[in-house]
Amino acid sequence: MHTERSERSAMLLSKNIQMSDNAFTALKEMIYERTGIFFSDNKKSLLENRLSRYIEDNGYEDFEKYIDILKYSPSRDKEFSALYERITTNETFFFRDVNQLQAFETDVLPMVVKELEGKGIKKMRIWSAACSTGEEPYTLAMLIRNRISQIYNSGWDIEIHGSDISEGVLNSARVGEYNNYSIRNVPPQYLDRYFVKNGNGKYGVRPEVKGMVRLSNINLFDEAKLRMFRGMNIVFCRNVLIYFDDMAKKRVIANIYDSLAPGGYLFIGHAESLFNISRAFKLVNINNVLIYQK
Ligand SMILES: C[S@@+](CC[C@H](N)C(=O)[O-])C[C@H]1O[C@@H](n2cnc3c(N)ncnc32)[C@H](O)[C@@H]1O
Repeated sequence: MHTERSERSAMLLSKNIQMSDNAFTALKEMIYERTGIFFSDNKKSLLENRLSRYIEDNGYEDFEKYIDILKYSPSRDKEFSALYERITTNETFFFRDVNQLQAFETDVLPMVVKELEGKGIKKMRIWSAACSTGEEPYTLAMLIRNRISQIYNSGWDIEIHGSDISEGVLNSARVGEYNNYSIRNVPPQYLDRYFVKNGNGKYGVRPEVKGMVRLSNINLFDEAKLRMFRGMNIVFCRNVLIYFDDMAKKRVIANIYDSLAPGGYLFIGHAESLFNISRAFKLVNINNVLIYQK
């Protein structure tokens, strides 16, 4: 699991095993083909730092041996899963980008409720598509519980899905315990209501919130698995497109488009854009927050 801070410490701890240029090319191509995550040529030492210790700890002689294992070993799926844990950047926190969350809560949610009610439907599906350690889907669950309790308590079935490619971060999300850094943006009334301070000094998400979120391992490049993720009314895919090149962004956004119900909404990171990536969405501006609608 990586943040910018842990990257610095990892660099200090590393490494004896060096990565050749050929190994870098082979690895970055494998990673790109499977995940869309793009390591440009100036990121060789970043990849080397993230993997050399793992290779050493597992007794593989060098990067070439590791690549053989990724290609041919019967346990390659497990190896790829371990690889994803090492190459992904998982920075996240509760109540990230409050302007977007406010647009979600005060505008998008009521619009979706109204539209579905008009059709006699009382089921809504929300998906946090690269949820890392769970702060994003749990934030959405808290907003839904707190601010629209009338809706939540009036027979609505609200499914919130959180998914990520990395099993390590999903396991942390399943535990649902967070440090001060993760909760730094949580408004005090939410902290009181939806967290419990544990003996270990961490903040646990209360069971009623945890129980609203279903977590699963989904690679946004895996079209076969994504076919099970259809009919989403609102999708959050924030701060993950930045790791992809344009081709990969196009593929992932097309997959998300297919997962959305007609009229469904997509939130991407506030610094991200679908310019030159997709023209399939209508752009909706809510108090200067840009949201994409299918
Ligand atoms: C920086 S975090 C963003 C977390 C959260 N959405 C937020 O904005 O706070 C990016 C996440 O994207 C995940 N990710 C990267 N490539 C992915 C892929 N191909 N499929 C699914 N998740 C992916 C990473 O594992 C990481 O947890």
